[in-house]
Amino acid sequence: MTRTIFSAIVPSGRLTLGNYLGALRRFVSVQHEARCVFCIADLHALTTDHDPRRLCQLAEETVTLFLAAGLDPGVCVIVRQSDVPAHTELSYLLECTAYTGELNRMIQFKEKGRGRPKTRVSLYTYPVLMAADILAYRTTEVPVGDDQRQHLELARDLALRFNRSYGEIFVVPEMSPAIVAARVMDLQDPTAKMSKSAPYDAAGTIRLLDSPDVIRRKIMRAVTDPGSEVRHDVENQPGITNLLEILAACLDENDPAALARRYQSYGALKKDVAEAVVAVLDPLRKKCADLAADPAYVNATLRAGAERAQALAAPTVAAAKQAIGLGTL
Ligand code: AMP
Ligand code: TRP
Repeated sequence: MTRTIFSAIVPSGRLTLGNYLGALRRFVSVQHEARCVFCIADLHALTTDHDPRRLCQLAEETVTLFLAAGLDPGVCVIVRQSDVPAHTELSYLLECTAYTGELNRMIQFKEKGRGRPKTRVSLYTYPVLMAADILAYRTTEVPVGDDQRQHLELARDLALRFNRSYGEIFVVPEMSPAIVAARVMDLQDPTAKMSKSAPYDAAGTIRLLDSPDVIRRKIMRAVTDPGSEVRHDVENQPGITNLLEILAACLDENDPAALARRYQSYGALKKDVAEAVVAVLDPLRKKCADLAADPAYVNATLRAGAERAQALAAPTVAAAKQAIGLGTL
């Protein structure tokens, strides 16, 4: 079986440090190891209230950030979800495999939409489209942050059920979780995930394109915990633990608890976190500005990506259609 890695980011807001450490940076580091497809999941951005012009802009900014972070379109496939009909086509077949009981259990749906009269139907079926994204490419591994675990379990369940019912069409994917910073928390509320849907200037959210000054200010003002000891302790010191996780991830170290021992004060820790984050994000921001000046390159990347992605996905979708009873015997 060809080792295949697939992951996606929804262009529903401006990307955050959480997106970078939990997802994008990991995409860059695995691109040479396997066949890789990385997707800007714009269809998923239609599941909640959206502005069409803004969505277009955010999708473009997200592709630019993929390239600026170091994804190489000569090495991996970079694709916008809406450019590849295979995703929606397969999604319907998987809707006919999934049960409402399963979708009712999805935490994200429960939190964001269940029981509200104006929740879009697509928010309910979102995990099925996500499963289609993954299964269409015969994906073996999905690098995602911790928050996507339940959705990935569903993709696995649907693949297994479809295969059992109609024949071995899909590969059952594995999640590859991050070792550190799997869940970067909000700097102002370290019990909540840092999210790109927060208001743009929210003090607890670091955006990938924030200037060094803004980054420093946000980190220096991060809420800390009662006491003054620097310890890695999610339960009792969520603020400090979050800063340690961010520092470890930015320094490429795997042991945030060991890092804690180097610090006597919260102030010293914050200073180092701020400089480490600036060192990681500053080159990214500069590269992004260069790329923004070359929209033709960004567009050509998307056109080529769409063609390659459709070619990769089409045989699997055709086989799934045939197996489920569509087409001729
Ligand atoms: P989303 O922002 O929900 O489109 O997520 C895109 C990718 O970034 C997924 O792999 C998420 O798991 C990851 N991600 C989003 N927010 C965070 C966070 N605060 N910490 C770690 N990973 C994150
Ligand atoms: N649902 C994911 C998120 O919110 C984004 C996503 C869409 C995705 N399709 C995917 C992630 C397929 C991995 C694989 O983060």
